[in-house]
Amino acid sequence: MNLSSALHHRFFNVIQAEAEKLGVNVYVIGGFVRDQILGRPSTDIDFVSDKLGVDLARNAAKALGIKKIDIFKTYGTAHFRFGEWDLEFVNARKESYTSDSRNPQVEQGSLQDDQNRRDFTINALAISLQKENFGDVIDPFGGLTDLEQKTLRTPLDPDITYSDDPLRMMRAIRFANQLHFRIEQSSFEAIKRNADRIKIVSMERITTELNKIVLCAKPSIGFKLLFDTALLDRFFPEMVKLHGVEKRNGIAHKDNFYHTLQVLDNVCETSDNLWLRWSAIMHDIAKPPTKRFEEGAGWTFHGHEDLGARMVPKIFSRLKLPLDHSMKFVQKMVLLHLRPIALTKEEISDSAIRRLLFEAGDDIDELMKLCRADITSKNESKVQRYLANYEIVVQKLVELEEKDRIRNFQPPITGEDIMRIFNLTPCREIGVIKTAIKDAILDGIIRNEYEEAYNFMLVEAERLGLKPN
Ligand code: CTP
Repeated sequence: MNLSSALHHRFFNVIQAEAEKLGVNVYVIGGFVRDQILGRPSTDIDFVSDKLGVDLARNAAKALGIKKIDIFKTYGTAHFRFGEWDLEFVNARKESYTSDSRNPQVEQGSLQDDQNRRDFTINALAISLQKENFGDVIDPFGGLTDLEQKTLRTPLDPDITYSDDPLRMMRAIRFANQLHFRIEQSSFEAIKRNADRIKIVSMERITTELNKIVLCAKPSIGFKLLFDTALLDRFFPEMVKLHGVEKRNGIAHKDNFYHTLQVLDNVCETSDNLWLRWSAIMHDIAKPPTKRFEEGAGWTFHGHEDLGARMVPKIFSRLKLPLDHSMKFVQKMVLLHLRPIALTKEEISDSAIRRLLFEAGDDIDELMKLCRADITSKNESKVQRYLANYEIVVQKLVELEEKDRIRNFQPPITGEDIMRIFNLTPCREIGVIKTAIKDAILDGIIRNEYEEAYNFMLVEAERLGLKPN
């Protein structure tokens, strides 16, 4: 195969000419080659040369008029940006690993050595930039056939490839999910055998791959593979505990692992928001610890939304996910995920809808997406009934928001107003009056405006024995 048509950008010729001047051979290798053949856009290019990689990068950058170049002396690598392109230069290397680290001993090697040390045959493909065979694909392990057959296979014995660098087990699953490839059977078995080695990989790197899985069009594929290989249990045991069905007196509950994955896939159809996707993953996370069998009622999971929200910080902290507003958002989604549907079980009062709007605030639309995604059941008539109720809630939310502007509710009377009007220093009564005003608005007793709130405040204050100035 010749890919010279993919090398039309002028920097390929500049790099080839500079390599010729230095007397070195240079190749494009790895993800860029794979993505070109798959027709996926990519702007990261790795160049590997048999020697003088840093000099080649320096000379090529100069010839292209680029001044800023990053050189990593210890690794003998260099990188520069050229417009939207990220160009990385390395010397071909031969690697040997020790059992306790994924950082190998590195020595100078040939192109073949460099291809040997790569994770998958489809990532070991190289394109020659030499004049005599410009664009020729060098494929020592049958990577082209694997691309065609959508197979992930390691160039060497999979036990060696995964044990050397266990992050590759996560990468295998991520690629399988992203590219819709199948992990070859012996590779899959090797991942199961080596799963425990994931412990030598830093959590940050695991989570980078995990988030790439979460951002796939259908992340359930990746999570099922993580579960089946027992990798998931190593870093996210709470999710594994969702798996399984228990039956008592002939009553079974649903398998919350597969239910969670269904909700996650559903959310992915309507949103690319990583944190809404994480909310779907976490929404039922506290079902196992809250599970009870109650005579008459069957299986219950009382308070799982509350406990689930409280479990989020610990899980985020272990997974090295950010502990900032993103985590707060996930907590809020987990805490509120039952509310819209719970509303439909009784007469839907305006007051309950206003309270939901008040608590969800600007995140109400995301919450409703999660709720919609959470309507899964084998019983089609149940699904239809919930969906119809869900539509009623959505409609009511729109109507009430238009009328009462609760979403970004700011009380028409502030604590400072109350202190000024009644000549108070900070005290408990201020909070009591404020809460009474808020509740009166949410319950529809008064409208969300100054005058009605002022009159209501006077009545409340009198009850507390306060008189205005
Ligand atoms: N590689 C590897 N083992 C790893 C990471 C990377 O063998 N643990 C090799 C693969 O040949 C890979 C190349 O290094 O193609 C570049 O890695 P990277 O840029 O991380 O991944 P890509 O394959 O380019 O894929 P993506 O950009 O989707 O992460």
